[in-house]
Amino acid sequence: MRAEKAMSDITKTDAWSRLEAHCEAVAPMTLSDMFAADAARAGGLSWEEDGLSVDLSRQRLTAVTLELLVDIARAADVEGRRDAMFAGQAINTTENRAVSHVALRDESTDQHLAMTAFADAVRAGAETGSTGLPFRDVVNIGIGGSHQGPLAATTALGNGSEMPNVHYVANVDGTDLSTALHGLDPAATLFLVASKTFTTAETMANAKSARAWLVNALGEDAVAEHFCALSTNIAAAAEFGIPSTRMFPFADGVGGRFSLWSSIGLSTALAIGGEGFENLLAGARAMDRHFADQPLSENLPVLLALTDLWNRIFLELPVRAVLPYDERLRHLPAHLQQLEMESNGKGVTLAGDVVSGPPASVIFGATGTNGQHSFHQLLHQGPALVAAEFIAVAEPGHDLAGHHDMLLANMLAQAEALANGTSDPATPHHHCPGNRPSTVILLRTLDPFRLGQLLALYEHKVLVEGVIWNINSFDQFGVELGKVLAGPLLSALKGDGTPDDPATAAAVAKLRAWRH
Ligand code: F6P
Repeated sequence: MRAEKAMSDITKTDAWSRLEAHCEAVAPMTLSDMFAADAARAGGLSWEEDGLSVDLSRQRLTAVTLELLVDIARAADVEGRRDAMFAGQAINTTENRAVSHVALRDESTDQHLAMTAFADAVRAGAETGSTGLPFRDVVNIGIGGSHQGPLAATTALGNGSEMPNVHYVANVDGTDLSTALHGLDPAATLFLVASKTFTTAETMANAKSARAWLVNALGEDAVAEHFCALSTNIAAAAEFGIPSTRMFPFADGVGGRFSLWSSIGLSTALAIGGEGFENLLAGARAMDRHFADQPLSENLPVLLALTDLWNRIFLELPVRAVLPYDERLRHLPAHLQQLEMESNGKGVTLAGDVVSGPPASVIFGATGTNGQHSFHQLLHQGPALVAAEFIAVAEPGHDLAGHHDMLLANMLAQAEALANGTSDPATPHHHCPGNRPSTVILLRTLDPFRLGQLLALYEHKVLVEGVIWNINSFDQFGVELGKVLAGPLLSALKGDGTPDDPATAAAVAKLRAWRH
């Protein structure tokens, strides 16, 4: 691997100085100025790759900005770290291991065959529960990456009427599991315990309660047929009572938020079938090739990452709104929140130094048009500027006349309104200043292949940003602190001990008084 520069080193390069000087000239320009100055801007700042297009023409940057940003990517050695990932080098340095989600979609591997064969057998009724009934419902029990990615993918693709129905349970709040189990027949229900570690407290609590629900109806022996383990921890899954025939292991190097391509994606394979899952992998693989082979200046994950860098550091926009104009993509913002913020929400470089400069963006989002009647007010007139990212699909997933055109028209109108604002407002209160940047990502269709492309696009964007920040995108030590503190507080809530922290102690006392 080539030398790893600290973010502070990047800021001392000539490439960075050139970008800073360029920013002085470009930042005062409005989007209207930029379109007026370049008649070919709309086409010149958009790219297309196999039915997926990215339009950056409404970002407050120019072709020159992108060239200078690409120099930064080169100086940070994005190509070196990208190649190291594909070569299986241990780029997750704090945990000393390779990052192997890309290997899962490599054509030469057949790791997914067991899970896709099982998914097809369940769908065909060949794999049944303990009473011989086919599985009508599947409940995926997992949290974080063992939940968000599969949920987003299944919701995007699994809208057909084919069996089984797939449900997701993540929260340790018993409402989640009890709502999912309501009306289900234990004899026709298959549980997937999706947990890389098979130790995550929330998942294990839900899995144990689901097990008790099943045993209560069908007896202890039924566990072996009604539970699958999607995990790296075979021993713990076996102890839970899951036989090897229902175990779907995967490699340790697959990070939680990158794991939907592994057996953690079994719920999605059950919803869309083995062939659909193969096509999802094929779409991701196509994006892998694009990322590996295309020059940085035409490389979609690189361009998206550099645009974020520009917005975050040079235009000082700390927040990005992810706005899918498609209900099928309604769980995408939550998946991207974990993917981007758990990966790059770090303040320490690879070498352990404090990251200089502002941290990675905060992201939030919701589907359009719902968001328009909620937080878009702030996007149009709020004093704090938010970068918007619209995602839409040309073909609808339904046959209701007129709806999809209305949806797309609204998406286009929002991007235009953010950019251009109001030209002749009646009062200052009606004034929308415009000049608010957005990206538009369009997909030709929303099929497994295109979704695979889209999800892998964001995964690689995360890597590029992590390289430029010079942080490790693949660990998540910040999540641990809350987990450690929760243990003693569980005892305190039961009356065993008083927390040291005064605010926590007061809240525990109130909760205990109110509950008993
Ligand atoms: O939220 C922290 C985390 O470690 C995520 O990275 C991971 O996806 C999630 O917990 C669940 O972990 P596991 O799959 O081991 O249950």
